[in-house]
Amino acid sequence: MKRDVQASAQPPTKVMHRQLHRLPPIATGGRGAWITDAEGKRYLDASGGAAVSCVGHGHPDVLAAMRAQMDAIAYAHTSFFTTDVAETLANTLVASAPRGIDHVYFVSGGSEAIEAALKLARQYFVETGQAQRRHFIARRQSYHGNTLGALAVGGNAWRRAQFAPLLIDVTHVSPCYEYRDRREDESAEEYGERLADELDREIQALGGDNIIAFVAETVAGATLGAVPPVPGYFRRVRELCDRHGILLILDEVMCGMGRTGTLHAIEQEGIAPDLMTIAKGLGGGYAPIGAVLVRSEIHAALAAGSGFFQHGHTYIAHPVACAAALAVQRVISRDNLLDAVKRKGTGLRERLVHAFSDHPHVGDIRGRGLFMALELVAERERKTPFDPSLRVHARIKAEAMARGLCVYPMGGTLDGRLGDHVLLAPPFNVNDDELDTLVERLRDAVNAAPVVQRAS
Ligand SMILES: Cc1ncc(COP(=O)(O)O)c(C=O)c1O
Repeated sequence: MKRDVQASAQPPTKVMHRQLHRLPPIATGGRGAWITDAEGKRYLDASGGAAVSCVGHGHPDVLAAMRAQMDAIAYAHTSFFTTDVAETLANTLVASAPRGIDHVYFVSGGSEAIEAALKLARQYFVETGQAQRRHFIARRQSYHGNTLGALAVGGNAWRRAQFAPLLIDVTHVSPCYEYRDRREDESAEEYGERLADELDREIQALGGDNIIAFVAETVAGATLGAVPPVPGYFRRVRELCDRHGILLILDEVMCGMGRTGTLHAIEQEGIAPDLMTIAKGLGGGYAPIGAVLVRSEIHAALAAGSGFFQHGHTYIAHPVACAAALAVQRVISRDNLLDAVKRKGTGLRERLVHAFSDHPHVGDIRGRGLFMALELVAERERKTPFDPSLRVHARIKAEAMARGLCVYPMGGTLDGRLGDHVLLAPPFNVNDDELDTLVERLRDAVNAAPVVQRAS
């Protein structure tokens, strides 16, 4: 490492932060939809970080459940023990899971959940005499996490680029991205058919019995910006997977656990996956936790075969994380928060439409429930993206933070390089005043971003 970095460019910290030249504000407190920093400034957390904080910050019931678990036992390694709290959480998740799911494998986050799902899918085929299956198919512009397996199935070109030599071979097909990719002469359903035909051709090219799984986010989140599937798309995908014995792995790490108004986003598509990953809204940010929901045939095959899943981490099924997740899920159920997501989601959409439908730089307002996004464009008619060197998304984030608003903007929406969007994911118990504040501050932030001013 030869490069000299000027001492003055280094902020006073020993934490290796995401950005090495910038120290973020210090979060000192959180209640409900609000975070306070060390200067006493309050931020409306309108994205729950990255769609994590589904019941808000500092929820007393969740904290009490975590404290009680810590008092009982904070940690017991899963190769020695199970815990009541992990068993109860698994029962709760299976009881509300898509049909066919009957077991849960706990991990500590979204990337770990994807890694476990990829390995479990492969092991299932090894144990059932189909060891020739070695390919995964996923979608461009998807995000499945940052560990190497997750990055490999992920379809964001920029994130993959420098690590490409380390990644397993994955075939990527088109995302389901109606705003940009549906032709004017086709209906939403026809567009979905066209995408399924493309997937069919890829399956034929690789050979249906060489493929382990098709991996997709039900509602595409971080890198595409809350893009729901068109009607019928996932039904066709399910049919293709069934025809070729390919597993369907749905990644609901971001869009799942109530975010779109149903516990699982796929409920709205009328099909069920073979493996499903969940994470962010599972524990709501109170502890790192993720899980893979496992279809009965897959569990049964391993049970009848080797009798174990060749995987594992030190912190799987961590009791305090399970206690947090169980408490979060109980709050969601007790307080009817799925209904609240539908209601508040409608309210958020209406406010966004009111504030931005005539905005010259907002090309699309989309999403489901409390999982919404704006896609920003330099020119609306032709949907021309901004020059990526302007970093519109980063400017909007900075302007929003300056106004006490946390949103989750991202660049590279179209292809990993071009395009900007802003993702919104407030807590399920957000109130109407907070939604007003959210949209007012967001409008001011978008309008204040220097590049937007210049382009208008
Ligand atoms: C759909 C999806 N999958 C996986 C991940 C990775 O999760 P984590 O950051 O917890 O590893 C994310 C994170 O944003 C995600 O949105």
